[in-house]
Amino acid sequence: MKQQFSFAYTRYDSAEELPAADKSLLEKARETTGDAYAPYSRFKVAAAARLNDGSLVTATNQENASYPVGICAERTLLSAVSALYPGRKIDTIALSYTGGGNADRPVSPCGLCRQTLVEYEERFSQPIRLVLGGQTGPVYVISSCADLLPLRFTAAHLNGAG
Ligand code: THU
Repeated sequence: MKQQFSFAYTRYDSAEELPAADKSLLEKARETTGDAYAPYSRFKVAAAARLNDGSLVTATNQENASYPVGICAERTLLSAVSALYPGRKIDTIALSYTGGGNADRPVSPCGLCRQTLVEYEERFSQPIRLVLGGQTGPVYVISSCADLLPLRFTAAHLNGAG
């Protein structure tokens, strides 16, 4: 039997159209790209999280002369939240970047980060919203990271459940 996966997300023509909380979170991510350590790719990514209690946490990609050692902004952020605010949950993450041209289209998490993000959703028992943008241009809002990883591998497989 043929199966199909689809999901709905919201596309805004620009950050100006976003709800106020998402707009300010994306603005925070845009500003924070300057803090990235990306001397090799020159692709500077920033992730800004709004926690359930309204706190903001930001992070950037951290590269290394041994290229695979580098870590994306998203996973830096998740580790920072876990380390600095244990027990607190993330409501929304905004992503932005500079480099790779005009940065006028949304960035999107890599496969490794999608897998990591989904595990945090499961830990939180709560979806993490994503606000994906560039420095200008359209912005995508996705209501759960799980939407970006169909047929994902989870702890349920290890446990023989589900
Ligand atoms: N990168 C991120 O930090 N997040 C993404 O969503 C895409 C890629 C980083 C990894 C590397 O430092 C640089 O961007 C180029 O791939």
